[in-house]
Amino acid sequence: MPRWFLIIFIVLYPLSKVQAATPPQSAIASAHPLATAAGMEILASGGNAFDAAVAVTAALAVVEPYSSGLGGGGFWLLHRAADGYQTMLDGRETAPGASHRDMYLDEHKNVIPGASMNGPLSAGIPGTPAAIVHLAEKYGKLSLKKSLAPAIKLARTGFKVDAHYQRMAKFRKPELNKWSASKKLFLHEGDVPPIGHRVKQHNLAKTLELIAEKGNAGFYQGRVAKQMVNAVKKNGGIWSLADLKNYKLIEREPIRGSYRGMRITSAAPPSSGGIAIVNILNIMEPYDLTRLTGVEQKQLIVESMRRAYRDRAIYLGDPDFVDIPVKQLTDKMYAAGQRASIRMDKATPSSSLPGIAASPEGFHTTHFSVLDQAGNRVAATVTVNYPFGSCFVAEGTGVLLNDEMDDFSAKPGTPNAYGLVGAEANAIAPGKRPLSSMSPSFIESDDAVAILGTPGGSRIITMVLLGMLDFARGNPPESWVDYGRFHHQYLPDQLQYEEGALTAKEIAGLQQLGHELKQTAWRYGNMQAILWDIKQDKVFAASDKRGVGQALVK
Ligand code: GLY
Repeated sequence: MPRWFLIIFIVLYPLSKVQAATPPQSAIASAHPLATAAGMEILASGGNAFDAAVAVTAALAVVEPYSSGLGGGGFWLLHRAADGYQTMLDGRETAPGASHRDMYLDEHKNVIPGASMNGPLSAGIPGTPAAIVHLAEKYGKLSLKKSLAPAIKLARTGFKVDAHYQRMAKFRKPELNKWSASKKLFLHEGDVPPIGHRVKQHNLAKTLELIAEKGNAGFYQGRVAKQMVNAVKKNGGIWSLADLKNYKLIEREPIRGSYRGMRITSAAPPSSGGIAIVNILNIMEPYDLTRLTGVEQKQLIVESMRRAYRDRAIYLGDPDFVDIPVKQLTDKMYAAGQRASIRMDKATPSSSLPGIAASPEGFHTTHFSVLDQAGNRVAATVTVNYPFGSCFVAEGTGVLLNDEMDDFSAKPGTPNAYGLVGAEANAIAPGKRPLSSMSPSFIESDDAVAILGTPGGSRIITMVLLGMLDFARGNPPESWVDYGRFHHQYLPDQLQYEEGALTAKEIAGLQQLGHELKQTAWRYGNMQAILWDIKQDKVFAASDKRGVGQALVK
């Protein structure tokens, strides 16, 4: 056999194996049972995974207003089974045309507390409506009208407030109370609504209907656009009609990597997720984790996280504005250099690695995963940033605006309120997309395909990483979503962990190596994951028990 033939055979064989098989069932995992049901309804009526993703995105926009919405943005990672084509829809918000790098600084060049987090000045131009239109038109089988129908119905009939909603509303109550449309929609007589209270959103239903009828023009032009711009301007914001009309959904080549024979596909910049995950796995790759003790495993993972987050802060931003050395950061030789400085008997102080820290990000966002019976897949992480975004609803539209401007570095090079510093690469500029950590991902071997992701701000990357490592161990999705989480992001130089993530022996061992350990105030994340086990011809799905979501296999 000629050598070239053998090489082509080896490269193409695993791909063809996945492409040849089809899953015995479809699956959806999302952060809300009503959104999972909306997606299942669309699959049952002949839609594919992309149609279902439109339905789930729109339903989450209605029933999880604290996490995502039409006024926000996100990343949709797609795999089309027919030809194996993979792409990432970048529906990230953009900075308005009138924005400038110092817009959240006072006359003394100090960051104005809350300015990039609350009210219409904190809102970027939304990308979610453009993403669902594109998803339906380019990849779906059904009309946008059909796929948006469940969400429109939910907006009209309303959804019931649960304990999770109450926690989110309590957290943002002072801000929600500031804006009459937000107060009316999301609070009850100015207070957190009681359990079972129905949140009905008639204006949002009408906005969704306009999108269903007119596509992008229903949101980015015409009545809704005018009402949003008027409301934003009247209340201190800087949006213009041109900002909305010029918003562009971008398809980007996903970040790819490999780990011990498994293929990784994840989010591209302006997300930092894919690059950081591939970088961490590259650093860890030569080590067989099964031969390491618990302390050694954690030491290796944490030191790899530390190094990847340092690079994230220095190099990453919107790829249309800054040159990102993607090839270098995802290169195995580059990772070998990073690995060389890791000592298994001692924590590396972050101060001994030159650089600056990652900027903090919002801690509320949502993720969902879809697999249809043709093998099409969607991993989508979508957000309005902080719980209830900016807390500002544009009067007459039902659209709750994001506060994604806070994901920019308000003052590059200077510590912010959290003692963290952002980089020049992520400075504010008109039309620029803020750096994100959202990491919708696939990891696959020849015999199994995993679809996963989670909300959680800068901890998203390490949660997805831990989920992938659990997949690599051969565990099912129930275990990935349940996995005890720990995190290091270079600065603060602290190993954060949730209750139960580390044993007493590991805590003592890691402290002895010189790590400062900090238990988080609550268990964090809300992972939604699917496993298609090709070998067993079975599909599994799981929704994080830390949240109120639902995973269904049908
Ligand atoms: N707003 C959270 C993120 O984009 O990472």
